[in-house]
Amino acid sequence: MKVLLIGSGGREHAIAHAIKKSPLCDELICAPGNPGIATLGKCFGVEVSSPEEIADIAKREKADFTIIGPEIPLVAGVVDEFKKHGMLIFGPSKEAAQLEGSKAFSKEFMKKHNIPTAAYETFTDLQKAKDYLKEHPAPIVVKASGLAAGKGAVVCMSDKEALNAVEEMLGEKAVFGESGKTVVIEEFMEGEEASIFAVCDGKDYILLAPAQDHKRIFDDDKGPNTGGMGAYAPAPLVNKEMLERIKKEVVEPTLQGIEYTGILFIGIMVTKNGPKVVEYNCRLGDPETQAVLEVYKGDLLDLFYKAAQGKIKEVAESEPNGYAAVVVMASEGYPGKYKGAVPISGIKEAQEKGAVVLHAGTKIKFGELQTAGGRVLGIVGKGDTLAQALDVAYSGVKAIHFDGAHYRTDIGKKGL
Ligand code: AMP
Ligand code: GLY
Repeated sequence: MKVLLIGSGGREHAIAHAIKKSPLCDELICAPGNPGIATLGKCFGVEVSSPEEIADIAKREKADFTIIGPEIPLVAGVVDEFKKHGMLIFGPSKEAAQLEGSKAFSKEFMKKHNIPTAAYETFTDLQKAKDYLKEHPAPIVVKASGLAAGKGAVVCMSDKEALNAVEEMLGEKAVFGESGKTVVIEEFMEGEEASIFAVCDGKDYILLAPAQDHKRIFDDDKGPNTGGMGAYAPAPLVNKEMLERIKKEVVEPTLQGIEYTGILFIGIMVTKNGPKVVEYNCRLGDPETQAVLEVYKGDLLDLFYKAAQGKIKEVAESEPNGYAAVVVMASEGYPGKYKGAVPISGIKEAQEKGAVVLHAGTKIKFGELQTAGGRVLGIVGKGDTLAQALDVAYSGVKAIHFDGAHYRTDIGKKGL
């Protein structure tokens, strides 16, 4: 079949890499893609927030099947648009994507279906939010309800920070724009976080390997939050017993509460009282995907294709195959301001060390590979043990050079 993949990050490069291995894939095309993806298939320009534009490409290029990487087109209703034209696509409907698109919606949903999560209250009025904070001292978490590219959650360790956060969102400044005009204030949960990925077909599901992300920019979880600086899978934090609890207490009640086709990404806090939901996402995680897909034994394209048609039961469940880790190399200054167009070298050398090099923020200019984003590359290692996987990933990282390159040196340490 001819597959159209939407997206342009490391996650999509990882998906493209996995799909190309499938015997079902005759041709892969991508929009907008990136220089790494372009080595696997032809890339086309597209405005990812436009469901109509994406559907036009699928029609024009006669794609048999479309896979959506990022949340923006899903929340904008790309799946509904494809269904209107009778075209096959893998992802949740606009309504189901609200689980990510609106925290107010997802919190209400969890309350209704008795899914464990932090206690919360929703606000649109600044004074009411301030009054609430007076009765609920820090630590507390303030979140913009809408999409905010991973930056809408403020974990407040002091009352002052909390007041500041609600003022920024609900006050004159409205720093998160429309996304922050509804605010969720919730209880602070203590524990370790894990990323759970359920591939869903509308009724049934298969779980991919549980992963752990590293959100802070510096070693030992210091510094500001980023999109994710590295990940590994499977994460031993989610042992068999915890996985069973997550299935019974979270995944199954969620899928009973909403008709969901596509990837359901559940951020779980493993607390001393059991698993609690931090958030839902309607897509795969970035950079978790870069590790998770490396340990998936089956045919990823077959899995997504069957899930899109409500036939996931035809796919056999499998245990993860070894361990994988991804280390993100970022531009100097990220997640703040950073410089672009810095030349990159050493990719071939990294590949010779056994690492898979996935592009996240790169471009080709005058035949030269350059940086073009905060997170630039994801270097993936695989092994029979987590230590081996990390060794391969870090030897790949050491072979690559660009001025100002920054990476964490402690990815996967918690899992060792
Ligand atoms: P979110 O945008 O909801 O994924 O939140 C981003 C990050 O903030 C999460 O990955 C957690 O590390 C942290 N966080 C969010 N909500 C809570 C909470 N209720 N308690 C503790 N940490 C949280
Ligand atoms: N790595 C976290 C996310 O994709 O939201």
